Amino acid sequence: MKQERGNWGSNLGFLLAAVGSAVGLGNVWGFPYKMGKSGGFTFLVIYLVLAVFVGFIIMMGELSMGRKTGKGTVGAYHALSKKFRWVGWLAVFSPFVIMSFYTVLGAYCMEYLTLNLGDLAFSGAEVMTGADLFGSMLTNPFGAWIFTVLFILICFFINRNGVSGGIEKFNKIGMPALFVMLVIIIIRSLTLPGAEEGLKFMFKPGYAVSAGFIDEKPGFLTVLATAGGQMFFSLSLAMGAMITYGSYVSKKENLVTNAGIIVIADTLIAILAGLAVIPAAVATYGPSAALSGPKLLFITLQDVFAAMGKIGPLFGVIFYLLVLIAAISSAISLIEVITTYFMDRAEVKGKQGNRSHIVLGVCLAILVEASIVALDGLGANGLWVPLQNQFGIIGEINDCWLDFMDFLSEGLAMPLGALLMSIMVGWEIKPKTLLDELHIGSNARIDTFFSICMKVIVPIGMALILLGQIDGFLHLGIF
Ligand code: PHE
Repeated sequence: MKQERGNWGSNLGFLLAAVGSAVGLGNVWGFPYKMGKSGGFTFLVIYLVLAVFVGFIIMMGELSMGRKTGKGTVGAYHALSKKFRWVGWLAVFSPFVIMSFYTVLGAYCMEYLTLNLGDLAFSGAEVMTGADLFGSMLTNPFGAWIFTVLFILICFFINRNGVSGGIEKFNKIGMPALFVMLVIIIIRSLTLPGAEEGLKFMFKPGYAVSAGFIDEKPGFLTVLATAGGQMFFSLSLAMGAMITYGSYVSKKENLVTNAGIIVIADTLIAILAGLAVIPAAVATYGPSAALSGPKLLFITLQDVFAAMGKIGPLFGVIFYLLVLIAAISSAISLIEVITTYFMDRAEVKGKQGNRSHIVLGVCLAILVEASIVALDGLGANGLWVPLQNQFGIIGEINDCWLDFMDFLSEGLAMPLGALLMSIMVGWEIKPKTLLDELHIGSNARIDTFFSICMKVIVPIGMALILLGQIDGFLHLGIF
């Protein structure tokens, strides 16, 4: 049965695809900014501890769930547990919701890439400031929508060609290219005068407060919740992505080592992305630089490139291409979660699913929700306003469709999914069920570590992270 579903062409191909899923927008703007704001080095240490005791464990758990059952998310939960079978649905719902805005952010990168390419081709043209550009982009909903369609179209062509023929192929070229481009940007960023300020912002404890970047030092629990939330989003956990990718891994591969490599590579690239982005922004703007969310990528950095003079657009092209590749390689993993669900469903009914038709249907459904987010333009075009009053507190705290979709997925469904998964594995089906699978191809002595983490540390950690996310999104001020 496994053979009919197809497998990765090689273990390296699988690894690059999994790292591609993990390395995304979260690494490029979430990690560096949160690290600086939440205590620099302290944040990094907490992040690393969480990555080992929570991230690595869930990563092994998800990969082995996929390979053991040979099924995508819904099928895997169905096969493993009666009580928790519905959790599989949660992990199809989240990727679908995330795609509503991930595609739009990807589209913005494409738009910036095109603009910088234009500047490069017609040097001498006046380079617009980041704020002007961003403003005019948001209030031109049709342009954003066209790029959203293009972004989804690219993903469609990749996913349509299958796991090894599409996803693996894209990542085999995309990931090394991304790495090279990242190194180029890091060299440029670190050689700008004043770059040390940025390094201090990232790595020196308390520096962000003393140098006036932020007003208040966050409490320990806030840092814990921020690092945790960032960690599982960045590692693509609780979204069915690793279950789905794991279901295509051959039985002879070592899942323990693979999980370790994915966690290390993702963390490393997040730190490298920080070195590429923060020193450049801080060197150009100092404490007044906008370092959070979409502003960092689309206003601050565009200004950094504009300030470089004639050569600026070249770095702009390299940078936005790099971010675009990162966004595509993550987006295709989310599309694959939903696609695999439908492929598996056809197989259960004894039919052979038509991948092209399924991917087309999935992409069209994503286009519908993404259109709302794209046309809303981060709230600039007011599409969220009519609904605001009807959602009570949720309506009050979310300013736009993107915020709302992010809250639903990253704020609620993802941490809840990971929490339930660890309870299921730790207490219902028992860690041994997955350890048996992990020991195929690996004789690492992880049994006690895996069991204790899965039973106790991950549930506590995920419960805290869930609370932290709700607290952060709803501004409740618990932490
Ligand atoms: N890990 C991706 C990022 O860092 C986002 C993502 C989450 C992708 C979940 C797939 C699944 O941006």
